Amino acid sequence: MKIKAIHEYLSEEKIAKRIAEMGTQISEVYGDEPVCLICILKGSVFFTVELAKRITSPVELEFMCVSSYGAGTSSSGVVKIVKDLDVSIEGKNVLLVEDIIDSGRTLSYLLENLKTRNPKSLRLCTLLDKPERRVVDVKVDYVGFEIPDEFVVGYGLDYDQKYRNLPYIGYVEIEE
Ligand code: IMP
Ligand code: MG
Repeated sequence: MKIKAIHEYLSEEKIAKRIAEMGTQISEVYGDEPVCLICILKGSVFFTVELAKRITSPVELEFMCVSSYGAGTSSSGVVKIVKDLDVSIEGKNVLLVEDIIDSGRTLSYLLENLKTRNPKSLRLCTLLDKPERRVVDVKVDYVGFEIPDEFVVGYGLDYDQKYRNLPYIGYVEIEE
């Protein structure tokens, strides 16, 4: 598959504004209590960094890397922890930060896995949600934007490891 064009769907300004709103909402929930943001590499890195700057509660930043996709655009259903947390989350307020929820397989696996580590609380935040694509039911606490079933890139999201650095989010048009 070859990409013909990328059409801007969410501008840099629109994304920044929405993340600021989410930061305010999240800060109201945690108040002065520390919150441990778990960034799911690599896609959520741009979102996590921007969100962290908009949260006024004390923030701890941790990273995990999972792989659920191959080089294409469809889910394999196999989730693998490529890099695990290097700290304990026992007794902590944990906020899992994802770039996009598609089938929900990655998150449902991760949530189950993290629950066994006894955090004080465990919530889920995603920049994008494709509700139409859901295969596994997951409860999402904070959603940036609901989007239709289209493959998107930019702001951390990739197509075959490319386009993550686009400052906006765009739809991919595939060459027939
Ligand atoms: P899920 O397990 O099917 O929910 O897949 C979630 C993961 O698939 C995300 O973290 C992304 O890495 C990837 N993904 C799903 N949809 C897209 C998309 O439209 N663009 C880029 N990556 C996507
Ligand atoms: Mg991802």
